[in-house]
Amino acid sequence: MEYKAYTSFDPDFLWGASTASFQVEGAAEEGGKGLSVIDVMPKNPAITDFSVAADHYHRIEEDVALMAELGLKVYRFSIAWTRIFPDGNGEVNEEGVAFYNRLINALIKHHIEPLVTIYHFDYPQSLVEQYGGWISRESIEDYRSYAAFLFKTYGDRVKYWLTINEQDHVVRIPSRLGLTGDDHYEQLRLGYQANHHMCVATALTIKTFHELGMKGKIGPAVSYSMVHPASSHPDDVLASKDAMLIKHNYLMDLHCYGEYSYSFQSYLEERDFMPAIEDGDLELMKQYPPTMLGVNYYFSEAVRAFPATEEFPIGYQKKSLLPEAEAGVFEVVKNENLAATDWGWEIDPVGLRLTLRELHERYKLPMIITENGIGAYDKLEEGDIVRDDYRISYLREHIKQVKLAINDGVTMLGYCAWSFMDVVSGRNGMEKRYGFVYINRADFDLKDMRRIKKDSFHWYQKVIASNGEDL
Ligand code: BG6
Repeated sequence: MEYKAYTSFDPDFLWGASTASFQVEGAAEEGGKGLSVIDVMPKNPAITDFSVAADHYHRIEEDVALMAELGLKVYRFSIAWTRIFPDGNGEVNEEGVAFYNRLINALIKHHIEPLVTIYHFDYPQSLVEQYGGWISRESIEDYRSYAAFLFKTYGDRVKYWLTINEQDHVVRIPSRLGLTGDDHYEQLRLGYQANHHMCVATALTIKTFHELGMKGKIGPAVSYSMVHPASSHPDDVLASKDAMLIKHNYLMDLHCYGEYSYSFQSYLEERDFMPAIEDGDLELMKQYPPTMLGVNYYFSEAVRAFPATEEFPIGYQKKSLLPEAEAGVFEVVKNENLAATDWGWEIDPVGLRLTLRELHERYKLPMIITENGIGAYDKLEEGDIVRDDYRISYLREHIKQVKLAINDGVTMLGYCAWSFMDVVSGRNGMEKRYGFVYINRADFDLKDMRRIKKDSFHWYQKVIASNGEDL
């Protein structure tokens, strides 16, 4: 729909940018920090690891000053669980507590709202060793009590909290659960059990949040994007609806309604994936839903029907990091209408508007974009110039669609681009950059790590200063 009159962004719209602890901090074994599943992951010789990252741990004052110069109203970052509790439970590490106090105080001093992700992929390795991590029910209370500690310690200054980042990816990427071996089926089965525990842990944490009388909002940061039908053939339309369910909506239905929908339950049972559920789990989720939603959006997908055959029976999945084909359900295909990034992520700004509308219609929660951005091979030119016009154009087109979604009636609290500065990409190391601020290092050469403002930095500065009018 096109409109004659456009609503502007609210004067208190939270313009922001995001990072995650393991992707920026470095100092992986400093300051009393314990090991996380990220630190013990087998190293990929082709890309950099996370041990130094952007060296943010040693440069928070300098980095926060740049955030202030950019004009950020909100900064989304995650707390490394193992900086606070090196073993995931037990003894507190005061040095870690002090580090985040310094960061939060620096943000407040510059009038930047902290938006804290309680846990963003870097799960404590010790909990995996103690009892298997998320696949055990014991994980629920350890997560809740870690979160409760954060509420009590930082809650006087932090109003916005994200519980778990991209739970769906944690569930499907075995190393993020601390699982080893190569039994794909077993890993998926365990993944659904872990998923259930994470949902119970989230609900219990939200309960604690209310019981402690915390002011502000709390909810998960979900990876959610439209799955378009590859054609108007009803079989493809059905494939897209089913893919939306088993990629995204199953999780949102649990968080918001405490419900394994009938069709999702049938999907799990047919594959023998149904997790153990204890009495009261679903009631707890129903009673303590999120009060806001973080949305991570990069690309959309298109799918066509993929009928099960003798060669590809029900239960068959095309092996990839995230599901690309499931016999009897869907198969991802190229969307010829869209351009893609260098890593094949299809760029779909209208897909963001559709995503926000879909989430609004289904769950009616206020939302904040917690990640949106483009990974690229940025080039540092002489004179410290990075001409990232492709990033400006990507962000501009997506922000326009956020504005249109607001016109559609969606409640948006803010927009955080991914990422504030270059981070070590989760899947592609340092060669794939996302930030407004360039970090002068390569995959294996740390160089001088100096911070350089890209062209997109100056552009976003104007966007924020004009409250989204000057795009
Ligand atoms: C999201 C994560 O999945 O996507 C981020 O929350 C990640 O941590 C981002 O960096 C982009 O993915 P990648 O693999 O390109 O870094």
